[in-house]
Amino acid sequence: MCGIIAYVGRREVRPILLDGLGRLEYRGYDSAGIAVLTDSGLEVQKKAGRIADLSRHVGKPKKPSHQGISHTRWATHGEPSDVNAHPHLDRSGKLALVHNGVIENYQPLKRALTEQGHTFHSATDTEVLAHLIGKHYAEAPASSNGRRLIDAVRSALHDVKGTYGIAVMHEDYPGVIIGARRGSPLVLGIGEGEMFLSSDATALLPYTQKVVYLKDFDVAEIKAGQFAVETLTSGDTDYEIKELDFAPEAAERGDYEHFMLKEIHEQPHTIENAVRGRLNQEEASAQLGGLNMTPAQLRDIERVVVLGCGTALHAGMIGAHMLENEACVAAEADFASEFRFKNRPLQRNTVFFAVSQSGETADTLGAMREARRKGFRALGICNNVGSTIARESDGGVYMHAGPEIGVAATKSFVSQVAIFGLLTLCLGRMRYMSASTGREIIQAYEKLPNQINRILEQEAAIAAIAQKYSSAKSMLFLGRQYNYPVALEAALKMKEISYIHAAGFPAAELKHGVIALIDSQTPSVCICPEDSLHEKNISTIQEVKARKGPVIAVATEGDTEIKHHADDLIFVPRTVEMLQPILNILPLQLLAYHAAVALGRDVDKPRNLAKSVTVE
Ligand code: F6R
Repeated sequence: MCGIIAYVGRREVRPILLDGLGRLEYRGYDSAGIAVLTDSGLEVQKKAGRIADLSRHVGKPKKPSHQGISHTRWATHGEPSDVNAHPHLDRSGKLALVHNGVIENYQPLKRALTEQGHTFHSATDTEVLAHLIGKHYAEAPASSNGRRLIDAVRSALHDVKGTYGIAVMHEDYPGVIIGARRGSPLVLGIGEGEMFLSSDATALLPYTQKVVYLKDFDVAEIKAGQFAVETLTSGDTDYEIKELDFAPEAAERGDYEHFMLKEIHEQPHTIENAVRGRLNQEEASAQLGGLNMTPAQLRDIERVVVLGCGTALHAGMIGAHMLENEACVAAEADFASEFRFKNRPLQRNTVFFAVSQSGETADTLGAMREARRKGFRALGICNNVGSTIARESDGGVYMHAGPEIGVAATKSFVSQVAIFGLLTLCLGRMRYMSASTGREIIQAYEKLPNQINRILEQEAAIAAIAQKYSSAKSMLFLGRQYNYPVALEAALKMKEISYIHAAGFPAAELKHGVIALIDSQTPSVCICPEDSLHEKNISTIQEVKARKGPVIAVATEGDTEIKHHADDLIFVPRTVEMLQPILNILPLQLLAYHAAVALGRDVDKPRNLAKSVTVE
């Protein structure tokens, strides 16, 4: 949610900033801007719209520059417009700032600054922070130790409440950029004679593999050949240089038309990466060393509470169901945003799982912190190595899914479900699950990548179904048990990228009210695997058909009965019931994708959305 990239080095800065912003555009895309320092001072260019609009606006540079900061915005305070776009300047016009986050006390700060004669041009909280830093800078004596700018940033940050990832530069300090973070991600990239700041390490992949994930309250100073990190609280330094473990092309779209399609097609590997080294054939179990828990502690878990938002919550709902059904561990999943304001009595041996692809979602992070504050163990299931949830949790499981850039989550969902399956296997085998069931689950994991490929081979047929129903105003998604969260997830995919209204329901709830929506123009997607509830699902389909509702069924390969009931059919291979959601969601991701393409939507950048929601 908002992306920052900053550079100082020997190269011409504008192409680097524009390329970096393009890579961060998934984080926000309503306006963008850059500020560069030339030998005649600051040059700021900003524009409402996409990075492509900004690139045209920037055009051919008149003066060279080797230092700059830039931003792509997802509006919180103030509508998307040229004037509200970042960077923002201080009163002197010599200091420029980009910001990701929310300054919660910006109104009293703005009032106080206005009384002191400051004039503001935008409706943003960010401009207030720029003025505040500028004020501290103006009031400080010119220092001989070169710390005037960094000290002004530090002093201003002591005055603000809220979240920030920032990059700041000043005409009086050529060759220096200051970065700081609290609650919004910021990564420092270390190049050869050049340094970067970025909201996300993937934007740095073409330039460097060496990074420092800044922590909350870190303040960093970057120069062409050096950097320093100190903390806002104590002034001490403590950082770790990490090597990024994915290849530069992991963050490229390659030959695919959209990142979302690329990520859907990556899912056979996503499963392999989630499972690699974690299956224990000998004990018919799974090993998850990152949980940092002894076998005795794992055996003592009385309840699991899974927290997440959106897609991650849907994966968590499947996970909770698996844990109860197969591992005999009481479990539930809750909206992170709701949980954190509840006051639930829970057994001491409750363990929390915060599920988050980005590891930066503010609601999930807030809920995890609340659980830890109350003395519970909180573990993470994250994709983003070095993210705040990964760092602050008591342990966890990395997804190793590689960068997910499409705003609509796809591969992260199947990865999270696969990881919950491993957890279920691990905890189940410590309780009542037999070795033969454990072995059956392991064999099922081994077959998944090929089974996913078989579904992907049906893409053209699924695209034709999507085209057929793309003029629908509303769609229903129905599933039972493991497939109820699949219905929710499929509906979320459909609405967020195609803008067709879609809602998921437990199939049996249809007759309790939802059935009023059924008519010949409202298609229902029925997830109807050949399992113990097959006949009940067929009854649901008949109830829809009796009211002239078109039915698209997701059914098990070899099911000969289903063709008598549904209008359109998508077959998926059979696996063990708890892993079936991994296969069932796949055609529905493709259905949403192709419906969006048929409607000419901007699949990777749906309206009003941004990936990694770092505001509450
Ligand atoms: C939907 C989607 C969102 C995210 C949610 C949580 O396609 O992407 O619903 O799943 O914002 O994000 P993470 O997993 O980063 O915490």
